[in-house]
Amino acid sequence: MSTTKKIIIAGGGPGGYVAAIRAAQLGAEVHIVEQDKFGGTCLNVGCIPTKALIHTAERFYALGADAQRGLLVENARVDMCTLMRHKQQVVNRLVTGVDNLMKANRVTVHKGKAVLKADKSVMVDGKETLKGDAVILAVGSVPVTLPFLGYDLEGVIDSTVALSMEELPSSMVIMGGGVIGIEFAYLYSALGVKVTVVELLPRILPLVDGELAGILIKELAKMGVTIKTGAKILSASKEKTGLAVEVEEAGKRIRIPCEKLLVAVGRKPNTDGMKLDSMGIRMNKSAVEVDGNCMTSMKGVYAIGDCNGKIMLAHAASAQGIDAVEHIMGHTVVRNGGVVPSCIYTSPEIAGVGKTEEELKAAGIEYSVGRFPMAGNGKALIDGGETGLVKILAGKKYREILGVHIIGSHATDLIAEGALAIQAELTAEDLVATIHPHPTVSEAVMEAAHDLVDGAIHWPPARKR
Ligand code: NAI
Repeated sequence: MSTTKKIIIAGGGPGGYVAAIRAAQLGAEVHIVEQDKFGGTCLNVGCIPTKALIHTAERFYALGADAQRGLLVENARVDMCTLMRHKQQVVNRLVTGVDNLMKANRVTVHKGKAVLKADKSVMVDGKETLKGDAVILAVGSVPVTLPFLGYDLEGVIDSTVALSMEELPSSMVIMGGGVIGIEFAYLYSALGVKVTVVELLPRILPLVDGELAGILIKELAKMGVTIKTGAKILSASKEKTGLAVEVEEAGKRIRIPCEKLLVAVGRKPNTDGMKLDSMGIRMNKSAVEVDGNCMTSMKGVYAIGDCNGKIMLAHAASAQGIDAVEHIMGHTVVRNGGVVPSCIYTSPEIAGVGKTEEELKAAGIEYSVGRFPMAGNGKALIDGGETGLVKILAGKKYREILGVHIIGSHATDLIAEGALAIQAELTAEDLVATIHPHPTVSEAVMEAAHDLVDGAIHWPPARKR
């Protein structure tokens, strides 16, 4: 009798396809069911296409500052059709890459909609039944929709539509000041659109370190983005020249005319209609409840990525996929699952990992702060990215790294060092002892650690940072 484990994976996003590859590497017989293209939201209508558009928008917007550095480009303009074609080429290439990885790893691909049955089998398009030793649900998330907003109203769009517009609107209201709302605010403002963000809470990016969010808010204001916080969108209606958005702000009602209203009020697990609770799988609203190994309350059935609602980020989904497979294959999972960096692709970029100051204060943990401004970093000045700082939070007694928060040039790449420091339980002294290459923006991380231990080298001791 064969002892090869058979694993059925529902969903081919960054959670599901990574789980499939790892399972194949570990010798399992792997079946993956996907109803659309591989890559999920991230690759098709999320992380990858947004960053492809932002790259061009950022270069276009930077031309003003580039002129001061001797790069003179006259009559520059963005050709939206070419930009959208380029974005799609990047997406298509990566999707084909995942197809090829499935083939190379001998993963059996089933095209269709996967439905879990109470006997732990998976039905594909109501026709084919797959039964294995374990099932991994990796079905992702869908945008939250608000019933009072007329989605069929011309001009009311979601992020998927906002990624495919071949004509720039003159103005856009963005509902929601979370990561999606703010990345699109940056993107379209950099391309010349008049953008207004309306956020319900007292500040945008509520989960980001407050000091860093404050710096980004100022930068967005300099670009001309209007941000209304503590403000609620009540309705949208059709006007002769576009839309009128009715907003309640500080007890007053105002109307904002605009061409497009982008709704970005969050995402929710894609579990509607799956009847998982009726099979005895414990749910938390639409999120599938899981343990530390991503196993649901039904033994042998796992849920990874956005559908378990823990951390809705592609890299978290991939890590959970690997962990779930390792558990199925009887290996011990060694990852410290709590260390998940998060990134915001604006200019300046923001990235953070570990605790924020707000979280440490709320938990009553004593900490020290090391800071280093990008203005003291040679490479950041060369790049024109002098706005921003690196902030390291460490335990007061042993200076173990508890949080790293970066705003500025290359923040989203630099944060990997912070993630490693927390994962490996390093101290500020360890970062100081690590020689960082010169000239790079990474030196700012080392300098912030120096500041925490006994003073930054390239910043005067008494000057306020
Ligand atoms: P979100 O939950 O981050 O933010 C939604 C915002 O909308 C919240 O601040 C909320 O207070 C606000 N809001 C809700 N109802 C509102 C209303 N009626 N009027 C005004 N504001 C309202 O959700 P978002 O930005 O849609 O992102 C969804 C998920 O995708 C998140 O988990 C995010 O982390 C992830 N994502 C990550 C990216 C990255 O890592 N760079 C990029 C894009 C998305």
